[in-house]
Amino acid sequence: MDRPFLDLAPCGPLRGSLRVPGDKSVTHRGLMLLALSQGEGRLFYPLKAGDTLATARAMQALGAEVLEEGPHFRVRGQGLRLREPEDVVDCGNAGTLMRLLLGILAGQEGLFAVLTGDASLRRRPMGRVVEPLRAMGASIDGREGGKKAPLAVRGGGLKGVSYTLPVPSAQVKSALLLAGLFAEGVTEVVEPVPTRDHTERLFRHFGLPLEAEGPRVRTRRAEPFPAKDLTVPGDFSSAAFFLVAALIVPDSEVTVEGVGLNPTRTGLLRVLKEMGADLEWQVVEGEAGEPVGWIRARYSPLKGVSVDPGLIPLMVDEVPVLAAAAAWAEGETYIPNLSELRVKESDRVAAIAHNLRALGVGVEEGPDWLRTQGCPLDTSDASHHLLPLHLGGRRTLNQHTHIPHPETHIT
Ligand code: S3P
Repeated sequence: MDRPFLDLAPCGPLRGSLRVPGDKSVTHRGLMLLALSQGEGRLFYPLKAGDTLATARAMQALGAEVLEEGPHFRVRGQGLRLREPEDVVDCGNAGTLMRLLLGILAGQEGLFAVLTGDASLRRRPMGRVVEPLRAMGASIDGREGGKKAPLAVRGGGLKGVSYTLPVPSAQVKSALLLAGLFAEGVTEVVEPVPTRDHTERLFRHFGLPLEAEGPRVRTRRAEPFPAKDLTVPGDFSSAAFFLVAALIVPDSEVTVEGVGLNPTRTGLLRVLKEMGADLEWQVVEGEAGEPVGWIRARYSPLKGVSVDPGLIPLMVDEVPVLAAAAAWAEGETYIPNLSELRVKESDRVAAIAHNLRALGVGVEEGPDWLRTQGCPLDTSDASHHLLPLHLGGRRTLNQHTHIPHPETHIT
């Protein structure tokens, strides 16, 4: 059988403005919090993709009603007390669903549930949430002593703890904060390195207990709370691909509108600016406590940089597209602190290195870093608006590029 491949056709400058689909992280959390609320609330412009539809189905299995209304969802919550699911809950490919839901289920007195997922999710580390939840008193078991799914949870008996995140992970932080809503006393998460804070912002939106003080976030047992509509901002992670495309294709100018500009997500903008990118953005409104606005990118000659390791958790899903930008930059780009990218849906460090090499880009790969040797575009070449093909020197852009995908990198 032939391996799958990408066959890329040449394209000219990118010009215009667009909106991207709703933010994945906010959609997962919005569905979960509406399912735990009392009454009916609408989630406007959610992401409707495999991961978030798995969350919608999981909330239905736990007793909430989730109805599609055109592009939106209407959710009738089950209140803080969820219904025992009749069957195994399938989290598909969604790590965010499995980890956050584990926190919620750990708090459900006496409720039994089993969570599983696809082959990739069943390989991913779950000990990072199971361990601290057990420290709170949760009863969870699973493959490899609870390090891998399927995981079985019998909820109840939680007590608040103070937990310092050993790896920067918004999913772990969020699982513990959600469990904290059902725990006796105060639950505190300390994050030495900041990660995305959508859970904290949504807790405030719904009036749930939350205190944030420097690296410490605290919550405590919640009282029943009413449903509230919320609008999901455009996903910065989706916008990033269009922005980088505009930066590397001559004569381009692209504006993304209605996009989330939460500073815990936009580390990529800072790195691209340092590389010399012509980028502007502005916050114009707030949705569910999230800053929302527009970002404009214009074609820019880029230069290589050494990325600040502290920025990686603020752009963890944008490293692949940063590496694509780095391939076009003058000089070397060094991207450190990538160990978390090896345990995503696929090993993203290996996938980036493989795909850039297939295009002829010089890449070195370490256990937790990448170094790319950029090769800027030769704009004196009249065919510069066509597609990239590295020809062992400066790049000319005039042929189709065929990138075979080894199966190990397909997610
Ligand atoms: C997410 C957190 C990140 C990110 C994922 C979504 C979230 O994962 O990569 O796509 O919604 O909290 P980690 O918490 O594992 O870094």
